[in-house]
Amino acid sequence: MGVTSVFSVCLGLDCRSLLLFTLVLLLVAGCLRSRRPSNFPPGPWALPLVGNILSLDFKNLHNDITKLAETYGNVYSLKMGPEWTVVLNGLSTLQEGLSKSDHLSDRPSFPIHTDVIPDLGVIFANGYSWKQQRRFALSTLKYFGVGKRSLESSILEEFKYMSKELASHKGKPFNLHFLMNNAVSNIICSLIFGHRFDYKDKKFLQLITLLDKGVQIEGSVWAQLYNSFPVLMRRLPGPHHSLQQIYRGLMDLMKTEMDAHREDWNPSEPRDFIDCYLSEIQKHQDKRDDEPDACFDEGNLVMCSFDLFGAGTETTSTTLRWGVLYMAKYTEIQEKVQAEIDRVIGQSREPSMEDRANMPYTDAVIHEIQRMGNIVPLSLPHLTNRDFQLGGYTIPKGTVIIPNLTSVMFDKNEWETPNTFNPGHFLNKEGKFVKKAAFIPFSMGKRVCLGENLARMELFLFFTSLMQRFTFSMPPGVEVMLKARFSISLSPQPFEICATLRAE
Ligand code: HEM
Ligand SMILES: *[C@@H]1O[C@H](CO)[C@@H](O)[C@H](O)[C@H]1NC(C)=O
Repeated sequence: MGVTSVFSVCLGLDCRSLLLFTLVLLLVAGCLRSRRPSNFPPGPWALPLVGNILSLDFKNLHNDITKLAETYGNVYSLKMGPEWTVVLNGLSTLQEGLSKSDHLSDRPSFPIHTDVIPDLGVIFANGYSWKQQRRFALSTLKYFGVGKRSLESSILEEFKYMSKELASHKGKPFNLHFLMNNAVSNIICSLIFGHRFDYKDKKFLQLITLLDKGVQIEGSVWAQLYNSFPVLMRRLPGPHHSLQQIYRGLMDLMKTEMDAHREDWNPSEPRDFIDCYLSEIQKHQDKRDDEPDACFDEGNLVMCSFDLFGAGTETTSTTLRWGVLYMAKYTEIQEKVQAEIDRVIGQSREPSMEDRANMPYTDAVIHEIQRMGNIVPLSLPHLTNRDFQLGGYTIPKGTVIIPNLTSVMFDKNEWETPNTFNPGHFLNKEGKFVKKAAFIPFSMGKRVCLGENLARMELFLFFTSLMQRFTFSMPPGVEVMLKARFSISLSPQPFEICATLRAE
């Protein structure tokens, strides 16, 4: 054996052991980093670097980790990539965490968003800016009639268009997915932009379709990987880039609307949210010196409109799609709803919000649709803005918090038949409507859904109008599929349904 080969063997060994040594070092460092902070909530062992990401089944995220709460208790932790995440389960834990303090009312920021849209607006904003924008959005929605007659008539007006379209199918099976999205979106569009879009408007349909697709990608493993490893994912191809394309498209729509409003804006006659916002910008510009922190500007206008549009379209229409599916499945419940409508409203006039108090059964059915539909099962993520104690654990500032709404809305201690559709959950012995603390589809606390009142009006008026005019049934021989398509929201699998006119 020559000197060189001895040398190369040595070198080879050296290389290999060096490699081994480095690997061990990396692994140890990774393990140390993936150790839980002291007195942190317990949870499954996490791999270095990727944490628990790869062990989760993203197609079925909300069910897949069923055993974790059973094993580790109502407050447990997971590692999503490099981030520690704490999941809260059960009504009392959620109340303690979300309602009793504002220690976890911040939002984490997600690179998949912040790479293309600014952290402004309401949903992903924090601190003073968030408070100011949220307050303004709430009061402006109220000004334009959330809870008032004017909005009621615009919902009923929209229903006329929807009804015509539904009737045109003459009871033949069809997929009402985008008709529903379109109709619901038009309500929020009227509020923000001051106008609706025709169902045949190609550009709008395209936008609604994109939004729908965006919601799917949001909940995929791609989005999660992007948020955990942005530097890598920015360079890799995948659906995460189409999500960002979709966001850019939506931002452009908001900007176009804003510019159009600027042109014929008359501050003394605000027509919609954008007009009011333009006035607000003006108002704060005039007294800029007194309020250096005010955040009313065009960037926030665009993002607030974006948030209201995004949050106000998919959610309510998904709930209504669950509604017609449940009615097609439980025909006897549908008949009881229709009987109540015929008794209280009749066939000759339109429903109104005032009828709700006299329609406990219909009200209970709508609540049960929301409970079973459970469309935002893990709410939206929160972030702790200081260290705090929960359930005997210490949760440091900067921890991502996931409120598990499913754990409350399907809790066997709160509901008689948690896994069965049962309007009786919201009725007492006398058939009167009863509220339930464990009914939390809109979450709770400081970040509770900003559109709750709007959504409830839409749900009542659309659902009641649908049931007044139509009977829903599955095409002959087709079974109702109640298994959900999972993303950040739970929606029905694509389906065809028959809408038959009840009476002329
Ligand atoms: C059935 C319909 C709806 C459901 C189930 C729903 C549910 C939710 C949930 C679970 C959250 C997260 C709360 C949290 O962070 O813990 C949320 C937030 C939000 N929702 Fe809704 N929502 C619905 C309709 C609407 C509508 C129609 C609007 C439009 C005005 C809207 C606007 C918002 C906004 C702006 C936020 C963010 C609030 C913030 O971060 O301060 N939602 N919603
Ligand atoms: C949320 O709660 C449900 C019901 O208790 C459970 O099956 C599910 O695994 C929980 N999800 C998470 C992320 O803990």
